[in-house]
Amino acid sequence: MSLDAARQYLLGDGSDALIAFMAAQSVDLAQTGDTSLPKARAVELGWLDPVTEQRTATGIFVSDSCREYLFWQKRDRKLPFENTLAHLGRAVFKDKHVCEIGAGMGANLMSLATTNTKLCGVEPVDAYIVLGDIFREREGLEPIEIRIGGAEALPFEADEVDLILLVSAHQYFDIHLALKEIARVLRPGGELILIGGTLWPYFTQIGRQVIAGKSSPKDFLITVTNTLSYMAFGRRIIPSRSGFSTARPVYPTRAAMKRWMRAAGFEQVVEPDSIEDETCFFVKQSGIE
Ligand SMILES: C[S@@+](CC[C@H](N)C(=O)[O-])C[C@H]1O[C@@H](n2cnc3c(N)ncnc32)[C@H](O)[C@@H]1O
Repeated sequence: MSLDAARQYLLGDGSDALIAFMAAQSVDLAQTGDTSLPKARAVELGWLDPVTEQRTATGIFVSDSCREYLFWQKRDRKLPFENTLAHLGRAVFKDKHVCEIGAGMGANLMSLATTNTKLCGVEPVDAYIVLGDIFREREGLEPIEIRIGGAEALPFEADEVDLILLVSAHQYFDIHLALKEIARVLRPGGELILIGGTLWPYFTQIGRQVIAGKSSPKDFLITVTNTLSYMAFGRRIIPSRSGFSTARPVYPTRAAMKRWMRAAGFEQVVEPDSIEDETCFFVKQSGIE
């Protein structure tokens, strides 16, 4: 069943239970009440395999989106870093043309919907865009234009955007190409806020999980190998076989990211901050007041 046909189930009666059920398929969330009806619906919609009860490919996109939607509600519909980094409050985005790249279902853009901002997004996975539209309808928000595409060839003219936002997204890009593209589409003096993982926090956090048996050692080794090869040669030496857009992350060091941003023509607005295990870079096109 197509996601469009599933729209009524995510908006109508029983949708709260269905969203909670699907979110819990991707992350350990406490479930209350009888889950037999949402489970039957998820099977009917083709999101769960009827035999194994595992998520189908579409079910993975749906459960990821439901999880992000619930997290967004839980943080009072705010940006994930809004309470932690005062200099990145909504005022930074006000009256600008803001684009989030790797927007997923668009929860961050939904937080900005009340600022006086022209919003848009870019996302390669069509299912996330369709699901985001449904969640925005649920919230009574205006539609937000999310263009299908990738960071390496942005669907914008030169100098079109004032501020680009990346949240937990750069690690899936060809970062060198993406930085060039971002520099192209930003107007002179335009800003880039990039929040995501870097090598040392990834290595220590996931390394501990591997030792505790909570993360796959194979995935850890692939990610570290790809990160080091990306830093050395500009490419991942272990490609993905699944084709999922998030299958092969890399976590270059904070110093490498700063160097690459400088080479792409950016200067620091503030020194990078740490937010839990993530690093926040705030830079702008250099040479312009
Ligand atoms: C972890 S999700 C983050 C979504 C969103 N930024 C958020 O914070 O909720 C990463 C997103 O990046 C997208 N992505 C992966 N490769 C990409 C690429 N080359 N260009 C643009 N987006 C990409 C994925 O499809 C996914 O939606």
